[in-house]
Amino acid sequence: MAVMGMAAERAAHGADVFHLEVGEPPTPAPSAAIAAAREAIERDRLGYTPATGDPGLRRRIARHYLDVYGTHVDPSRVIVTLGGSGACILAFLACFDEGARVGVIVPGYPCYRNMLTAFGVNVIPVRVDAGAHWLLSEETLEGSGDLDGLVVASPSNPTGTMLGREDLEAVSAWCEAQDVRLIVDEIYHGIVYGEPAGTALAVDDEIVVVNSFSKYYSMTGWRVGWMVVPEYLVDPIERLAQNLFVAPSTLAQRAAEKAMDCTAELDAHVERYRGNRELLLDRLPRMGITDLSPADGAFFVYADVGHLTDDSYVLCRSWLDDLGVAVTPGIDFDPEHGRSSVRFSFAGTRLDVEVALERLEGRYGTS
Ligand SMILES: Cc1ncc(COP(=O)(O)O)c(C=O)c1O
Repeated sequence: MAVMGMAAERAAHGADVFHLEVGEPPTPAPSAAIAAAREAIERDRLGYTPATGDPGLRRRIARHYLDVYGTHVDPSRVIVTLGGSGACILAFLACFDEGARVGVIVPGYPCYRNMLTAFGVNVIPVRVDAGAHWLLSEETLEGSGDLDGLVVASPSNPTGTMLGREDLEAVSAWCEAQDVRLIVDEIYHGIVYGEPAGTALAVDDEIVVVNSFSKYYSMTGWRVGWMVVPEYLVDPIERLAQNLFVAPSTLAQRAAEKAMDCTAELDAHVERYRGNRELLLDRLPRMGITDLSPADGAFFVYADVGHLTDDSYVLCRSWLDDLGVAVTPGIDFDPEHGRSSVRFSFAGTRLDVEVALERLEGRYGTS
């Protein structure tokens, strides 16, 4: 956020900025979703929906699981939320009491740890590293002591690592055996570059799954997401949602339902990400930045820059000030070791990525 602020300030002074720091699509919502929102503004009253979301959208999300993953999900288990963030808030409050011990993957999305801390939950870092391809293993979990819960994103932010079916089965079996509540954040599903992502719900429908219209559906600012939960959690989550939020945005829900039919338009964005990803994975190693996360999914490459700096925040500052290249330092994702890492986002335009690479090559050379 600090880098985004500095990049915006630089741009406001008329200097050029090439954006590899932003974790969101630069594209608007799909055109049919925007048309649906326009129509809803003209014709609908746009009052509250039920706290769990519009029944039509809940049915449409349930159908998505059958269409995309071949997994049956009853619409009653789908809860529409205020983005993936709203789903995390509800999941954490419904699943964990104050004082609980919940594992979060490091490096990982910082808001999990901040939300859990705000709710009085003890955050237990579960470290993954380049040596193990940034993948979660049973051995790592064993070293975390007694846990009440575990939060995993697949694909992950910032490494793009994805848990395959076998990895998911192993993590799920471990959690079941240890009586650990597993929450899987699938917000980057749809943005993958090899095998399609499988949903954790196909492994065990006791897992709480979080998702959102923000990333694949290119609707960050609409603030609409969802979760799928076991039947017995629906009622407590409905009560929480009713009291905390009353309901998700009705307008956003109308647009989101239409967005689910716009795969051709949305897959074209994924093709652009794919091209940007190839540029980074090809050219960063040639300038000596060789230790890169696999970026199986999402739009991030997490890179070791320990040979260039002992403080990636200072390095990012100099890339921005001297080269006009905005990149995120690793400290947010990994407070302990993140000073030797940066996250390159390739969500932006091809021009952003190309010019940023040219400028970095100007500084570090190319082999
Ligand atoms: C892993 C992960 N989960 C959740 C979120 C929050 O998403 P939303 O905009 O849907 O609230 C993000 C946003 O970057 C994210 O990276």
